[in-house]
Amino acid sequence: MNPLSPSTVPAHVAIIMDGNGRWANARGLPRAMGHRKGVEAVREAVKTASECGVSYLTLFAFSSENWSRPESEVSDLMGLLKTFIRRDLAVLHKQNVRIRIIGDRQNLSGDILPLLLEAEETTRNNTGITLVIAFNYGSRDEMARAMRLLAAEVAAGRLDPSAITPERIGASLDTAGIPDPDLVIRTSGEERLSNFLLWQAAYAELMFVPEFWPDFSRETFIAALSRYAMRERRFGGLQPAATLAVGS
Ligand code: IPE
Ligand code: IPE
Ligand code: MG
Repeated sequence: MNPLSPSTVPAHVAIIMDGNGRWANARGLPRAMGHRKGVEAVREAVKTASECGVSYLTLFAFSSENWSRPESEVSDLMGLLKTFIRRDLAVLHKQNVRIRIIGDRQNLSGDILPLLLEAEETTRNNTGITLVIAFNYGSRDEMARAMRLLAAEVAAGRLDPSAITPERIGASLDTAGIPDPDLVIRTSGEERLSNFLLWQAAYAELMFVPEFWPDFSRETFIAALSRYAMRERRFGGLQPAATLAVGS
């Protein structure tokens, strides 16, 4: 059941799932336990977003900078992603969820790439919520890869530089075809983007919530969506106040 008015629900919510390590530390547990608990919060967030009528949910799962963490933690995170896809793919498919992966696919270990491709392929024709998993993702890396592609097209004489518009750049990013996020939420009280969707979030509403990711419940999510409904979005314009509210 959707507890929110459909007209005020953001079409695309993107979440920086932060604070797994601190959640575990606060309990005297190893960081890996925080990540494991974080997977449960992922399942709940997908369900809540879907029930509330969100069309796209993007989750920042592993950044291109997270490789700098200790090897054991990187390996825990890779293991969790693999387990998540192996265990949850069938359920997500049954729930009509369509999966998209964004991030650099080069140089991923041999057993991860096939799983990511399988998740996308299996759910390609689903018509429910699109779950976008940002994995080995960093905005600057994404933009550099897109620029290299466009530069190669120009060098080959297939693209005139004057055709490099914001739309063309957007269509060259990993998120091609996905609308820009309306709302970016970061958990754990940190107030930064950490190289997440820098291009796409140009006009997103930003929300920083104090809960560590494993504590991000259905209630917390719905409260964030309710706060979003009160925001006024202007996109640089000057519409009369009455038409500015998200839900108008
Ligand atoms: C988010 O939690 C998960 C990933 C970045 C993969 P963290 O691991 O960043 O947890 P904190 O920020 O150290 O608490
Ligand atoms: C951002 O969180 C990346 C993910 C949530 C996957 P980090 O914990 O890596 O970001 P910083 O290092 O605190 O900026
Ligand atoms: Mg963190």
